[in-house]
Amino acid sequence: WGASGHQTVGYVAMQFLSPKALEFVQTSLGSTYSHSLGPAATWADEVRSQSAYSWSSVLHYVDAEDDPPDSCSVEESRDCADGRCILTAIANYTSRVVDTSLSDTQRQEALKFLDHFVGDIGQPLHVEARAVGGNTISVQCNGATTNLHALWDSGMINRLLPGTYNNSVTNWANTLVNRIKSGPYSSLAESWISCSSTTEPARRSVEDDMLALLHPRADGTLACPLVWARDSNLLDCSTVFDYTTGEDLCTSSYYTRNIPLIETQIAKQGFRLAAWLNVLFDGVTSLP
Ligand code: ADE
Ligand code: ZN
Ligand code: ZN
Repeated sequence: WGASGHQTVGYVAMQFLSPKALEFVQTSLGSTYSHSLGPAATWADEVRSQSAYSWSSVLHYVDAEDDPPDSCSVEESRDCADGRCILTAIANYTSRVVDTSLSDTQRQEALKFLDHFVGDIGQPLHVEARAVGGNTISVQCNGATTNLHALWDSGMINRLLPGTYNNSVTNWANTLVNRIKSGPYSSLAESWISCSSTTEPARRSVEDDMLALLHPRADGTLACPLVWARDSNLLDCSTVFDYTTGEDLCTSSYYTRNIPLIETQIAKQGFRLAAWLNVLFDGVTSLP
């Protein structure tokens, strides 16, 4: 996602943190980030282009070598064979954020990476190898030429925010939080953090993942990030690549069909980030 998508994921998560998770987040981020996951969520994109952090660039995505729209799938052994992708990044920074042998600075960095990568794994084109995650597919948005990846990162969001949310990511986040607490997302929120999967029957919840992290399985993988990745990747088969060449994707049915899905993905990842930190710091999965 672009800056607005990431910040909104962070602002949504802030409103679902349990007491110890909130305490850690506020203390760790400090006044530099206004004690909030919202402003801290874009740090990983800011350092990605710096030579000191160029190693982190590949951690923002997983190149699922599937064939959308005909078939979608994510396999960690196939798509993250060298162990350097968003799936392993989430596992690594999950263990580092609670590692008391690390410095405060190292744990803050782990938190900022988690804040960002839990957002990115909800972007369908960050879980897709086709056309380098859509980066090499030229499309039109509001009369301007962009690419399919950027359209999903920020093009459609930049069209949504001014008219609907007064160009404010905190307004957007508050609306998504209300939809989770009492609106159209409330019946779905529990399923968003269950990590249930027909192909991963051994582990079914964020708590199961934390147990798995403390007592790793033979293959050392985590269930939840893989479930989140497959959830996003399915959209590559159902809607992302479904358009007519030449149509303006920000003023056509493509926009009206997909903008509700983008809003859901942002809300989902914010809620998942909070649930993840809550299990790490308080051992709870329920709403505060
Ligand atoms: N580079 C290669 N694949 C990518 C993807 N899926 N998303 C972003 N950048 C990429
Ligand atoms: Zn992107
Ligand atoms: Zn990113």
